[in-house]
Amino acid sequence: MPSIARSDYHKGLPKAGVKALLDNGLTHIPDRYIKPIDKRAVADEVLCGDGIPVIDMAEFFHNRKAVVDAICDASREWGIFQIINHGVPTSVINGMVEGVLEFFELPIEEKMVYYSEDVFTPVRYCTSMTPSKETHMEWHDHLQHYFPHGEKNHPWPHKPAFYKSTTEKYVNSVSSVAKCLKSALSEGLGLDPDHLERAFGKHEMILRSNYYPPCPNPELALGMNGHSDSGGLTILFEDQVGGLQAKKGDRWYALKPIRNAFIVNIADQIEILSNGKYKSVEHRVTVNSKRLRLSIAAFCSPSSEALIGPIPELLDEQHPPLYKTTLYREHITNVYTKYLDGKHSKNLEK
Ligand code: OGA
Ligand code: NI
Repeated sequence: MPSIARSDYHKGLPKAGVKALLDNGLTHIPDRYIKPIDKRAVADEVLCGDGIPVIDMAEFFHNRKAVVDAICDASREWGIFQIINHGVPTSVINGMVEGVLEFFELPIEEKMVYYSEDVFTPVRYCTSMTPSKETHMEWHDHLQHYFPHGEKNHPWPHKPAFYKSTTEKYVNSVSSVAKCLKSALSEGLGLDPDHLERAFGKHEMILRSNYYPPCPNPELALGMNGHSDSGGLTILFEDQVGGLQAKKGDRWYALKPIRNAFIVNIADQIEILSNGKYKSVEHRVTVNSKRLRLSIAAFCSPSSEALIGPIPELLDEQHPPLYKTTLYREHITNVYTKYLDGKHSKNLEK
């Protein structure tokens, strides 16, 4: 177990994360959390996100066409939407949230046992994105699980004791929601409902819980830089604090938290597979000085070994491929070894 002297937190040991800084009496953020002026959220006018679609999934199995159309329109127009009545029981969500909060409340020495910057590590605690490479860090700590397809021996954290069972339930439930969404998105492309599921291959999930403690200087920092997610699609739970913003055109829009809803956002691989019909959305997180914020992102990704490029059935003379075809493992390795800023599907445009 790494031993960290308490005084090191004051010297600003970057890896221990932001909660550790606050627990040790920080009153002003260290310079490495101060964003360049043009990257701060206060530099932009932020619009109200009331226009971001809210889709009721209750009708998915009875009035499928209307719900499929709503999902596909939202994915084309915004790349982000919220879903309600998605079928994941509130008790499953609450259990997950409780487990994550208890994990983050463990002493820092216990969390540092899981410290890693490698995205393929099965269970890892980290802060910001890749602290050893960043010049401007993000104001959050996270716990991330990488679940390759068919994995049996996941090295679950031992504390809290109920964490494994609540997280397993959550992951199973969210995977079912992801399957419905992928079938809807396939149909919206005029393909059979299993098409995207097949294109993903033996798909993988990354579950990332983000812990944003109150920030003494919220106007100088960001919880998360603007980015698009690199997987297929993301199903995000957020608490009621707010702070997530999405970009459409040149404007940023603030999402309004809806209790027990999920936020769905299209990520880079679905943009590429759909040859740009669905758009991955750039999003970022602002922080505040008063309240802790928690979010739980389930990144539903293709297999690391899947070759991802525009689906051939969508291409003809009028619709040439707009993106390169690459191995997903190469894409994700590239993304996570660079400073995360902006949309990564741009790098794969032809
Ligand atoms: C992410 C992300 C948003 C949030 O983890 O990729 O965008 O609200 N999170 O925490
Ligand atoms: Ni994201």
